[in-house]
Amino acid sequence: MDNGRRIALTGFMGVGKSSVARHLSSIAKCERLDLDAYIEKNTKRTIADIITNDGEPAYRKIETENLVRALRETTARILSLGGGTWTIPVNRDLLVEDDVTTVWLESTFEHCWTNISKSRKERPLAKNKAAAMKLFEARQSVYCLADWHFIIRPEFTSYEIAGQIAEQVFS
Ligand code: S3P
Repeated sequence: MDNGRRIALTGFMGVGKSSVARHLSSIAKCERLDLDAYIEKNTKRTIADIITNDGEPAYRKIETENLVRALRETTARILSLGGGTWTIPVNRDLLVEDDVTTVWLESTFEHCWTNISKSRKERPLAKNKAAAMKLFEARQSVYCLADWHFIIRPEFTSYEIAGQIAEQVFS
């Protein structure tokens, strides 16, 4: 169940990238890195603070710097990206050049929005349903450039989804 390649999970906010990554790393017994948490650790700021006070372009620059750093300086096999990371061309180039297998976790907007609304995580780019839906629709055609595509159905737990990914992607 191991071809040695790194795996990066992408997909819209609220789809469950971080929890699937957590299960995937325990199933595959390998290290994982959550890019949002990594950025917050390195900048000693919250992502919400960076986006709100410095603006999204400044945040994207920091995000790319941290992606470079994560790829160069860590050995984590499973990466959970932020919902926008894969939508930025330079980040896609970095992941492709590094031979990272990318996995798009797709779900319906309503499912993502329910999770966003329930979550305590502050998401300045999804402040209201209309803004989030616009972003969701604009991103579908970019998420689908990922190597793999898994449809997340609410009846599956994140552990089950991680198991399905491990079975197919790690072979
Ligand atoms: C973002 C998603 C967030 C976080 C930031 C920007 C986006 O991560 O990186 O708020 O552009 O979709 P999650 O997808 O983990 O919420």
